[in-house]
Amino acid sequence: MFKKTILSALLAAGIAGAAYAEVGEQHIEDFDFSFEGPFGSFDQHQLQRGLQVYTEVCSACHGLQYVSFRTLGDEGGPELEAEQVKAYAAQFEVYDAVLDEDRAAKPADMFPMSGFDGAPDLSLMAKARAGFHGPYGLGINQVIKGMGGPEYIASILSGYTGHEKEEAGTTFYENTAFPGGWIAMAPPLEDDLVEFRDGHEADIHHMAQDVSAFLMWAAEPKMTARKEVGFLVFVFMVFLASLLYLTNKRLWAPHKYKD
Ligand code: HEC
Repeated sequence: MFKKTILSALLAAGIAGAAYAEVGEQHIEDFDFSFEGPFGSFDQHQLQRGLQVYTEVCSACHGLQYVSFRTLGDEGGPELEAEQVKAYAAQFEVYDAVLDEDRAAKPADMFPMSGFDGAPDLSLMAKARAGFHGPYGLGINQVIKGMGGPEYIASILSGYTGHEKEEAGTTFYENTAFPGGWIAMAPPLEDDLVEFRDGHEADIHHMAQDVSAFLMWAAEPKMTARKEVGFLVFVFMVFLASLLYLTNKRLWAPHKYKD
């Protein structure tokens, strides 16, 4: 009798779980990014292409208000030359509180805020979203595949099915990666929308990956430095542990094997 109750409870949970999975099913593709793993680092050329996609496409709606232009020249990032950073910043207008008027942006300024109603700021998006969960809410997939923020963004950009619907005056587009399946962002990319300066292929998939890598850098510009320090700390800990082990052995040696 008791066994039977447990069995039916498990069954019910199983069915509920399956139903949940069906409603909220998202398809997040596990892209290989150069910055994954303990030794991964950003690919400077990919970041430059991603910056180009952001500039030519996404910046029309999305801001990057927590990123300053100056960091585009930092080591480990897109590494633009100082002159390029200056010229890049000058394309944007910012409000200057001292002059009380708009002027061309300088490297020390931040990117503008989002200019489109409902479009979130993308500065921290790659760290704010997780592409991988489960199984059963344990998060084991995140241990294996990483949090999947950039995978999530790339999957959204390439996950449109082409269906749309209108609800309360807003158009929603069916998207296999967006939770709930319908997103209010019109498909921003199409093949060859951007002509990469380095001649790289510009189909939706490549553009989606490049801009996602760029957004990962924007959200965590010091990732490479963090990994390097982490590795040094690891080596140091192994070294220290062996010294401690030998010291311990030496200190206790006179007291061992005494009758
Ligand atoms: C025409 C304006 C527009 C353009 C261009 C645009 N977006 Fe969006 N984006 C939106 C809107 C509006 C939303 C909010 C959608 C929603 O919440 O349903 C959004 C949402 C998002 C989200 C958040 C999804 C989430 O989980 O909340 C991401 C990521 C995103 N956009 C990335 C991009 C990238 C990358 C580009 C450039 C390739 C881009 N967008 C271009 C309007 C735009």
